This record gives sequence, structure tokens and C-alpha cells, in this order.
Amino acid sequence: MAILVTGGAGYIGSHTCVELLNAGYEVIVLDNLSNSSEKSLERVKQITGKEVKFYKGDILDRDILKKILETETIESCIHFAGLKAVGESVAKPWEYYNNNINGTLTLVDEMRQHGCKNIIFSSSATVYGDPAIIPITEECPKGTCTNPYGWTKSMLEQILSDMQKADPEWNVILLRYFNPIGAHKSGLIGENPNGIPNNLMPYITQVAVGKLKELGVFGDDYDTPDGTGVRDYIHVVDLACGHVKALKKITENVGLGIYNLGTGTGYSVLDIVKNFEAATGEKIPYVIKERRPGDIATCYSDATKAKEELDWTAQYGIKEMCADAWNWQKNNPNGYDE
Ligand code: NAD
Ligand code: UFG
Repeated sequence: MAILVTGGAGYIGSHTCVELLNAGYEVIVLDNLSNSSEKSLERVKQITGKEVKFYKGDILDRDILKKILETETIESCIHFAGLKAVGESVAKPWEYYNNNINGTLTLVDEMRQHGCKNIIFSSSATVYGDPAIIPITEECPKGTCTNPYGWTKSMLEQILSDMQKADPEWNVILLRYFNPIGAHKSGLIGENPNGIPNNLMPYITQVAVGKLKELGVFGDDYDTPDGTGVRDYIHVVDLACGHVKALKKITENVGLGIYNLGTGTGYSVLDIVKNFEAATGEKIPYVIKERRPGDIATCYSDATKAKEELDWTAQYGIKEMCADAWNWQKNNPNGYDE
């Protein structure tokens, strides 16, 4: 029995492939490489000494989905494939709705036609909007998203939940990720953004490696201890391990399960800068800028439910997140490009 990992060549997907292989699963990746490189999968093999079977293709393409579901014995699907750049989604809403929503509808339609009804979906803390409760429990009502990317996550949660309600043979786990950062200890795989990074940690590591001059801190007048935005950063390896735990849960006929994957601790932008400097010895020059539209002040999880029901808790702290992000960046200043 194998696990189909859509988007498995990407940042979180490649780290999850490592943990799945280490846990003894057979792994089949489907990825169109629109935001990744096949080299990540070669590195996964290097780290684990195990093979990953790779299909280059699109979740919108029924033929390749049929081929995989007919050739391989797929027990469950971990569905990472999707476009994820918040700003780009505002400029290209059709592309985001088509890729993420039509892509997922096509995937789950082919899955059910082939009798595979176990799916773990990559959702996001973004579905809480400006959260009504801090720390955020899974009971916190979903909020208003500020961009099409966020809406695709919120809508797909609804679609998958409705499908599970209508057909209880489905097992659906929605994992709401907080802010994944860091990289595998080996420094062989990590985050590889195209162009100038939008997210905080890859921006910081590119300043440290000399590709960018200074960090812009988006606002210092939020209602937070130091005025800068507070987030729940989680080591990507912990996040990957959360998927292995979710796979165990899904085979217990969970029905619908919704879990936050976060550490439960919030750090501000300036906390991250200080911790990065302490962990790496690299100085990060920064300037305070205007608030970024759509940002919220504070977002961190209550991680109790995943602990109680999945037996999962984050193991790594902020020092390891910073040190491992830097180890990846300094060993691969241009990501997977030579
Ligand atoms: P990523 O871009 O590195 O990985 C996504 C992968 O999906 C890429 O390899 C891309 O090539 C592939 N892909 C995209 N569209 C596809 C399609 N139509 N067919 C086949 N492959 C396709 O992103 P990531 O950070 O690893 O995120 C993985 C998932 O987790 C995404 O769904 C993302 O929205 C979600 N997520 C990410 C974060 C984060 O901060 N990184 C937070 C919350 C949720
Ligand atoms: N920030 C800066 N400067 C930068 C980049 C970010 O000050 O150059 C700040 C932001 O204002 C925010 C914090 O750093 O306060 C984190 O910003 P990120 O862009 O790294 O992350 P977000 O919390 O905005 O969003 C990320 C993903 C979303 C996902 C969400 C889940 O981009 O897709 O985490 O919590 F939904």
C-alpha cells in the first residue's frame, strides 16, 4: 500500500516524503513542478536511502490521475499540490481558484471512482481570518479571508467536509498549518522561493546570505508586546511528522478530523530577527515599514487537540528553526539551482 503525495516535490511535501519513507511507507509523488524542482526528490532519496516514485503531472489532468490510481495501490492521499502566493492570488484569482479548487475536485473525483477515500488536506491558519480567539482552537469560527488564496483553503475545507458528510466512507483530515519555517537537519532540502521571498524567514536567510540588503519589518504599531506581528512558527520537520501521525489516524476511520499544527507559542518579527542572529551569528539589518495590507496582529495556535487525538507535539524550538533555515540557505544559496 502506498501513499500518494500531491505536491510532494515542494517545500512541505519533500520534508513529508522523508518522514513517510523513514516510517516505512511507500511514497508516490505527483507534482507538475510549477513551484519546485525534481532535485528535491533526489535529495529525499539521498537522505533516506529509499526510492520515491515520481509522476510529473498535474492534478487537473484526469488521465494521469487515472493512470496512478490504476497502476499503484494507493491507500491514502496527502494533498499538498496548490498555488500558495498570497499577493499573486490577488492579481490572478482565476488561476488560483482553477488550480486549487478545480485541481482538488478533479483529484477527489478520480480518487472516489477508484475506491480511494482517505485524504489529508493542507489547510492553513489563514482560514481563521482575524481570529476571534487567541490562542486559536479548532472551535474558533472561520473568518473572512483577505485574499483568493485564503478563500481556496476555506472553500476546499467546506467542499471536503460536505463530501465526507454525504459519503461516510470518506475519511478527511484537514490540517491547519501555522507558519512553517526551517529545513531538514541535513541541509539538503529546504524552502526554495521563486524571486524575492514574501515570507519572513526566507527573506531573513536571503539577507544573511547577502542576496538582499535588509529586512523590511511590516509595521511596529500592532497591539503586540513589541508592536510587530506575532506568529506561531513551526519547524517544517515537526509539520511533516504531523502528517505521519495524521495518516495513522485516518486509517482508524476518523470520518472528518480538523487539527491545528502549530507549537502554541507566538513570536514577533523582532523576536525572530533576534533569535536568528543568536542562533547563526549573522547580523540582520532591518528597517520599519508600513503595515502590509491584509496582515493581522497576532496568530498562534492552541495545539492541544493534535496532542490528544494525534499524539503529536512539535519537538523543535525557535533556535533549531533558525539554525536549520540558515544551514539550508548557506549550503544552497540559489536553492536547487546550481
Ligand atoms: P510549495 O509551492 O513548495 O509546494 C506545492 C507543490 O505543489 C509544488 O511542488 C508545486 O509544483 C505543486 N503544484 C502546484 N499546483 C499543482 C498542480 N496543479 N498539479 C500538480 N502539482 C502542483 O508549497 P508548500 O509551502 O510546500 O505548501 C504545500 C501546501 O501547504 C500548499 O497547499 C500550501 O497552500 C499549504 N500551506 C503552506 C503554508 C506555508 O506557509 N508554506 C502554510 C499553510 C498551508
Ligand atoms: N513580515 C515582515 N517582513 C517581511 C515578511 C513578513 O515584517 O518581509 C512579517 C509579516 O508582516 C508577519 C510575519 O512577518 O507579521 C509573518 O509573515 P509571513 O509572510 O512569513 O507569514 P504570514 O503569517 O503572513 O502567512 C503565512 C503564509 C500563509 C499562511 C499563514 C498561516 O504565507 O499562506 O502563514 O498562518 F496561510
